[in-house]
Amino acid sequence: MTTLTPVLTKNWDQADSFTRAGYERDGGYKALRKAFGMEPDEIVQAVKDSGLRGRGGAGFPTGMKWGFLPPTSPNPRYLVVNADESEPGTCKDIPLMMANPHVLVEGVIISSYAIRSNVAFIYVRGEVLHVIRRLHQAVAEAYEAGYLGKDILGSGYDLDVVVHSGAGAYICGEETALLDSLEGFRGQPRLKPPFPAVAGLYGGPTVINNVESIASVPSIVGNGPDWFASMGTEKSQGFGIFSLSGHVTRPGQYEAPLGITLRELLDMAGGIREGHRLKFWTPGGSSTPIFTEEHLDVPLDFESVGAAGSMLGTRALQIFDETTCVVRAVLRWSEFYAHESCGKCTPCREGTYWYKLMLKRLESGQGTEEDLETLLDISDNILGRAFCALGDGATSPVVSSIKLFRDEYVRHFEQGACPFDPAKSTLWGGAK
Ligand SMILES: Cc1cc2nc3c(=O)[nH]c(=O)nc-3n(C[C@H](O)[C@H](O)[C@H](O)COP(=O)(O)O)c2cc1C
Ligand code: SF4
Repeated sequence: MTTLTPVLTKNWDQADSFTRAGYERDGGYKALRKAFGMEPDEIVQAVKDSGLRGRGGAGFPTGMKWGFLPPTSPNPRYLVVNADESEPGTCKDIPLMMANPHVLVEGVIISSYAIRSNVAFIYVRGEVLHVIRRLHQAVAEAYEAGYLGKDILGSGYDLDVVVHSGAGAYICGEETALLDSLEGFRGQPRLKPPFPAVAGLYGGPTVINNVESIASVPSIVGNGPDWFASMGTEKSQGFGIFSLSGHVTRPGQYEAPLGITLRELLDMAGGIREGHRLKFWTPGGSSTPIFTEEHLDVPLDFESVGAAGSMLGTRALQIFDETTCVVRAVLRWSEFYAHESCGKCTPCREGTYWYKLMLKRLESGQGTEEDLETLLDISDNILGRAFCALGDGATSPVVSSIKLFRDEYVRHFEQGACPFDPAKSTLWGGAK
């Protein structure tokens, strides 16, 4: 399996890919017309049959999530698109919305129709102003064309879409913190149950899905669920955007069937930068345990990556070559988690703070063997005890790096300094 499957990324090289005209020239909004000829429940069934699993990290089946909405409720129901993309290494939703915002808008309309919602929100990361402008423009163009608003295309169905910018907090990507933020509160995770499907935004039944999940819906409706299910693996069906970054010759987004391997992706991306070799990589962003060269042939699907000891996450493949100090990389990630911890629960708030201090000491060569045991002990106290998945995610790089690269940690304190010369690594701003 070495071929790409460009669907969401198909028109990215067109100069006007982000406009309605450009999208429609490529067949855009045809699926919407088809959808209005279907009953909402038929669309939910098609998404179930396609096997689409959430592309925001956890891989929960999308159609099943939609099916959790109560059949009736006194409150309005909502669709909320999670466009907060802030995980280190994850860079698929932002380029997708930049290059092809209409595929998301079309997905929002079809999905909202399917779940019988008349108001949808796109919660977008506040720092990406250029993307926010493109989204606003796409939504305005969709209103102009009669794809949004009252009686869309004479179907009798009404939908309004609100683009809402966050204020730059990683935790607001956690779905219930996102809802609090959208309601105007400080973004902190909510206790579950009740789950958003029952009591979400403003207490109404709410579906929250990732950008890529919703953007995949038009192609499923347009081409049929069997077309989607024919790609990927038995339990991880369809295609996804794999983002290669770091020490790779041609970094970027590669849209491919789930189950492709890093070796195959690297072949297409020109390999590791010239003269260097792979040292470690993340399969799904910084919250997923790191892999090494021995995992090059692990199929990148939910089951295989899990069986190999990590998580598919957001398919954020951060590639590091032999010039990278693993202790330093883990320190950087841990600084991020300590900064982004919302502080609601003690294991994460205190644990990520101690991670930062201890890793700083270890990286500078002043640590001890005992520090490694303490780091693992702290990890035990976070994993499974934190209020939300941010805390669990923070433990991934720490635990996996100690497991795979303990000798490198030891070398730091044996030498009393970092054995890597940062000037040799482009990752840390030094010369090649
Ligand atoms: C700290 C944290 C940050 C998250 N950030 C995002 C994000 O930026 N985008 C996203 O879609 N999901 C994010 N998630 C996952 C969401 O909580 C949720 O599972 C997802 O939006 C569901 O959509 P899906 O089923 O389509 O994948 C995050 C989770 C956590 C714990
Ligand atoms: S795990 Fe961290 S981010 Fe999540 S609620 Fe606790 S303190 Fe906040």
